[in-house]
Order: sequence, then structure tokens, then C-alpha cells
Amino acid sequence: MIQNQLSHINTDDGTSTLYSSKYKAHYHSLYGSFTESKHIFIDAGLAHVGGEEISILEVGLGTGLNAALTAQWAIANSKKINYHAIELYPLGPEHIKQLNFSQSLKGNASALWEQICYANWETEQQIDEHFCLLKQSIDFTQWQPNRMYNLVYFDAFAPDDQPEMWTVEEFKKIYNALLPQSVLVTYSAKGIVKRALSEVGFTIKRLEGPTGKKHILRATKSN
Ligand SMILES: C[S@@+](CC[C@H](N)C(=O)[O-])C[C@H]1O[C@@H](n2cnc3c(N)ncnc32)[C@H](O)[C@@H]1O
Repeated sequence: MIQNQLSHINTDDGTSTLYSSKYKAHYHSLYGSFTESKHIFIDAGLAHVGGEEISILEVGLGTGLNAALTAQWAIANSKKINYHAIELYPLGPEHIKQLNFSQSLKGNASALWEQICYANWETEQQIDEHFCLLKQSIDFTQWQPNRMYNLVYFDAFAPDDQPEMWTVEEFKKIYNALLPQSVLVTYSAKGIVKRALSEVGFTIKRLEGPTGKKHILRATKSN
């Protein structure tokens, strides 16, 4: 098995990211981790779905940045969020300590990020009255859903780097675990991704991307 060596990099907006030697890929855009995460997952995803209680699935917890910004949003907007994150390679403390989110994230996001990073795995943790977290260390392609979601952050490495995550079969699994009018957001607007999402029944909307990325996708389950 190829070792997953991680190295640390600072992105253009001053927030950290990681590079995986196994996938030869960065965890975030080098134009800005925070900027990318907020634009795609918070503004195009979370702020778009309605309801007082939102159940989110994240494919690829990584550094926990999407989770921290989601917890911050939940508190600021007085919504209740149940957050289920899947990650095959949980970060050890040596990598968590090198990420600069404790200093670079604004307001309560830095403290929330630390709580999320050090929360136990495989058991639900109430991080705040508005944010309940379940971190599960499992291979997404082997995982089977046993709850329903309103929103999916699909944040695997890119289709060229790990094609096995972006298949019709995997998207079908997600589609079946979504409530009507639910949404999947992802940073990849590649043709192969659009075709796979359409084939399982999603209605696709191409949205403007963050700096350095022309388009992102928001896919909706209509019924
Ligand atoms: C683009 S990064 C995610 C960045 C992350 N959302 C964040 O906020 O930092 C992709 C993540 O998917 C994880 N991953 C790769 N293959 C996986 C698999 N088969 N199942 C679950 N997670 C996987 C990687 O370890 C990595 O953390």
C-alpha cells in the first residue's frame, strides 16, 4: 500500500492546506483554503438549503475546515446541524498542530475547529447545542448509509486523482440517502461528474467558482 505522506502549505488567503503524496493532490485550492471552503460549501450549499434542522454528510473530512465553518454558520444562524463526516485517513495531532486555523480563522471558527479536530471518532459529539458531529473513519466506497441527509459536501480528491469516488454507483448511494429537495455541492464541474450526477437523477446547476476555479456544481434531488 502506498504511504499517505502529508506536507503543509500556506495558501494565498493565509490559511493552511495539506498535500497528499499518495494522491498527488492538495486538500484545498492554493488560492485560499478558507475562501474556497466558504464559497463552495457554505455559500453555495449550506446557505442555499432551508429548514431549522439540517443533516449534512461530508465525504472527506480532511482538515475539518468545512466542518468548522459549518458549525460557525449554525451558531450564527441559530440552526441545528447534524454533521456526519467520513474520512479514510484521519489526521494525527502532528498534522493538526501544524495547520494554522487556530490563528487564521475568524471569530469562534478557530475554537470550533480545534474541538472538531480533537473530538472522538465513531461516536456522536455535541460540539455546541447547534452542532452535533459524527466523525467516521471508513473508506467511502465501502460505506453504506443508514440515515438520511439534506445536504452533501462532496469533497473527495479530484476525479483524475481518485476516479473510484466519482462513479455512478457512488452517487446513486448518496442519492438514495437524500431527502427530497436535498442538495449535493462539489468543486468539480468536470463533464464526467456532471454526467454521473445526471444519470442518477440529480438536476445540475453550474455556479461560478471561487478564485482560480471557473465553475462548481450544485446538484438537487427533485423528489
Ligand atoms: C480534498 S480533501 C478534503 C478536504 C476537507 N474537506 C477539508 O475541509 O479539509 C479529500 C479528503 O478525502 C479523503 N479520502 C480520500 N479517499 C477517501 C475514501 N476512499 N474514503 C473517505 N475519505 C477519503 C482524504 O484523506 C482527504 O482528507
